[in-house]
Amino acid sequence: MLAPFTTGWQQTETEPLIIQKGEGVYVWDSKGNKYIDALAGLWCTALGFSEKRLVEAAEKQLNILPFYHSFWNRTSQPTLDLAAALIDLFKPVKMGRVFFCNSGSEANDTQVKLVWYYNNAIGRPNKKKFIARQKAYHGSTLVTASLSGLTSLQKGFDLPVSFVLHTDCPHYWRYHLPGESEEEFSTRLAENLEKLIIKEGPETIAAFIGEPVMGAGGVMPPPATYWDKIQPILKKYDILLIADEVVCAFGRLGTMFGCEKYNIKPDLVSIAKALSSAYMPIGAVLMSQQIFDKVANKSNELGGFGHGFTYSGHPVACAVALEALRIYKERDIVAQVNRVAPAFQKGFKDLAKSPIVGEVRGVGLVLAIEFAADKTTREAFPTKWAVGTYFGGQCAANGVLVRVSGDIIMIAPPLIISADEVHQMVKTAELALKETEKYVSEKQANNPNVHA
Ligand SMILES: Cc1ncc(COP(=O)(O)O)c(C=O)c1O
Repeated sequence: MLAPFTTGWQQTETEPLIIQKGEGVYVWDSKGNKYIDALAGLWCTALGFSEKRLVEAAEKQLNILPFYHSFWNRTSQPTLDLAAALIDLFKPVKMGRVFFCNSGSEANDTQVKLVWYYNNAIGRPNKKKFIARQKAYHGSTLVTASLSGLTSLQKGFDLPVSFVLHTDCPHYWRYHLPGESEEEFSTRLAENLEKLIIKEGPETIAAFIGEPVMGAGGVMPPPATYWDKIQPILKKYDILLIADEVVCAFGRLGTMFGCEKYNIKPDLVSIAKALSSAYMPIGAVLMSQQIFDKVANKSNELGGFGHGFTYSGHPVACAVALEALRIYKERDIVAQVNRVAPAFQKGFKDLAKSPIVGEVRGVGLVLAIEFAADKTTREAFPTKWAVGTYFGGQCAANGVLVRVSGDIIMIAPPLIISADEVHQMVKTAELALKETEKYVSEKQANNPNVHA
């Protein structure tokens, strides 16, 4: 296997960590070590690793009809039922139709094609550029790696494509000016967005895509008033808003959708991951009735809508997703998140007292710990010290798997996590932090120029 997001030497010189089984929020590796999976796989196994009802839903559907496609107006009942359930569940604006695909990347790739098709349909063939944000993560296909604002996805691949523009990353701690409040920071970012639109020509900008809370780029909740200030500018220049809810949807932030938390009124929405609690690959695009109507008309004119995947609306994936949605409702997943989130946020945010932690930030059941050599200047530790990797290793040695990205640690456990399990994660992180402080002190003793 060529392993995704894995450096060459890791694949040739080290053994992979083979995960063999899972139960609740725990996974076991092939050597029998047990871990809390503090990233819920890849921010996705909301219901943990042993939800029998999802397994039964898959088995039942496999026995009735293991596959059917959704091309040429043929489809299966679970597919239609899931579309209806999603339209009903998404409350921030009334959505009109759902397009199914297999992943978050395919959902966002589809967004670009839909928006172009829509603009062609309404006679705006030049309105095609996309604005995304630095440090966004929207996927790793050709177009979605371009929308992503992370150079690691682009270097070596001749990306980003030219129709994608990137605007500021709304990370207050890292990018605010001295003395600037969160509100002032948001105002400045909104003004920068407007300047970019004017410079490029509003008639060329089709859509803005954003995660309600930025995830894989380092977990960055928006600063106060950010979405309130961004949305009127998009409206002013007739630019569509795409909410990438791939991480935020289905309770992660303590609301069913991230859009609810920040009063975001999107034209289009991408979902995947927790849609099926990751038990089957599935993604979807929700679109307004207005967009659907224009797309449908255009397809009449062209004699077809030329987009879709063999597994769009796969009946087994849809049956599992339907069952996941039923469980989210029955067990009130949003209330469950709000029960455990305060202790989760407080426990981890207390780690920010450490001299080697720059910031701990998060909301609901997602957060990031960012190490820094200097809290005020936000200066990083030397890359070769690999402070984040050291901390992650300590967590793993003590039974918690976290995501390490440079000196940023990301945590987003299954949403079913109990108060005791949250406590266990926090205690492990405290222990790992003590060890990391010692490790850093030793390094600093030999490098007196790096402070903390
Ligand atoms: C916000 C967001 N959008 C899109 C994607 C891409 O999803 P996938 O990996 O299913 O293609 C991800 C994946 O982490 C994501 O976090």
